[in-house]
Amino acid sequence: MTQPTTVDIFSPTFKANPYPTYVSLRDNQPICRIITPEGQPLWLITRYEDCLAVLKDDRFVKNVRAMLTPEQAAQFPPMPEALKPLSANMLDMDGASHDRLRSLVHKAFTPRLIEKMQGRIQTIADTLLDKAQARGEMEFMTDFAFPLPITVIGEMLGIPSDVYQQFREWTNALLNTGLTENVEHLLPVVQAFIDYLRELFEQRRQQPADDLISALIRAEESGDTLSEDELLAMVFILIVAGHETTVNLIGNGTLALLQNPDQLALLRRDPSLIKSAMEELLRFCGPLETATERYASTDIAIGGEIIPQGEMVLVGLASANRDPRQFENPEVLDITRQNNRHIAFGQGVHYCVGAPLARLETQIAFTTLLRRLPNLALNADSEAIAWRPSFVIRGLERLPVKF
Ligand code: HEM
Repeated sequence: MTQPTTVDIFSPTFKANPYPTYVSLRDNQPICRIITPEGQPLWLITRYEDCLAVLKDDRFVKNVRAMLTPEQAAQFPPMPEALKPLSANMLDMDGASHDRLRSLVHKAFTPRLIEKMQGRIQTIADTLLDKAQARGEMEFMTDFAFPLPITVIGEMLGIPSDVYQQFREWTNALLNTGLTENVEHLLPVVQAFIDYLRELFEQRRQQPADDLISALIRAEESGDTLSEDELLAMVFILIVAGHETTVNLIGNGTLALLQNPDQLALLRRDPSLIKSAMEELLRFCGPLETATERYASTDIAIGGEIIPQGEMVLVGLASANRDPRQFENPEVLDITRQNNRHIAFGQGVHYCVGAPLARLETQIAFTTLLRRLPNLALNADSEAIAWRPSFVIRGLERLPVKF
């Protein structure tokens, strides 16, 4: 096995601009073993073809605990009790258990439901800009990028708006935690999240409403329904995956357009380019640095390396999306790019359930922004813009803008 790399993918310098490191890793160590600050080994995959291969290979599994021998399991840190109910979410499952949850969510989270949201998403975007417009400036993440997706998923689920800010704090705490860091300090946060949702479920069981939580309670496939813990895990994953990602695509995409004024001007001149522009922003600055972690269920040979059974694997989505073996001029933002086969929504069985909703939201967000704020500009030096410390999420701490 090759020696672990000395690249510190957890440092703020890497986070500020990981792309030169990705160039070097793709060329020299495309299947790269890294030791985390906590001393855990993990594998980072950086070439497009290898990333696709891992995402489509069912020997890389999500639920590591289900495939460990009793001896290996004894060495694995026990899962804190508070987290157990959330582990029943589809993104942490494999095979038939995963397929079952995915069919149940498809029963409730239908294309019709998403289409129905179009007018409402437009109203939410307009209302947020109405509030900001007179001020001539805003902190874009807090005033626009965050409230839009959380309001959309919150309203779809039927969650009252007074807790959205609380949700932001809960999910930020969860996602800013290192991959192999001890999670003890998060337990009160998770418990508060769980208690809140359980109470809401009780209300919906008593009094069903026209919302996704009520539909998930009713969702049934061949006589099968979600258990209470599965419902909790499903709503939890829809809230976390349903806003953290879209928030950061809107933030990263806006920054990328402001830093590439020719592309911004082109999109303003020809708004019909919005669909290819959005796909290009997903490729160029998608909100996930990597897919969520997978584990080798057996020793697996890939790209001249053997990934030993039980070790963690991260698929480098941001790197794959800039691999010159797949994309011409990958470091260039080109909103007219054709045949853009980016993997910002993943690939294979865990391909993003929310992709159609995310596309609809971001399309409305960018179109509305450009139409209503013709003088949109950065209100800070590019160097002063800080990235969130989370490894998996690629997102901005703050984005001051003026208009
Ligand atoms: C720009 C926005 C989004 C991006 C870039 C994105 C990206 C992804 C990616 C890469 C995965 C696969 C992760 C893996 O394989 O490890 C995924 C899965 C998932 N996403 Fe999204 N997502 C977005 C928005 C959403 C939204 C709006 C929702 C729901 C409302 C959502 C719900 C989910 C769920 C439930 C899964 C798990 C699917 C499964 O395990 O079968 N996502 N997403």
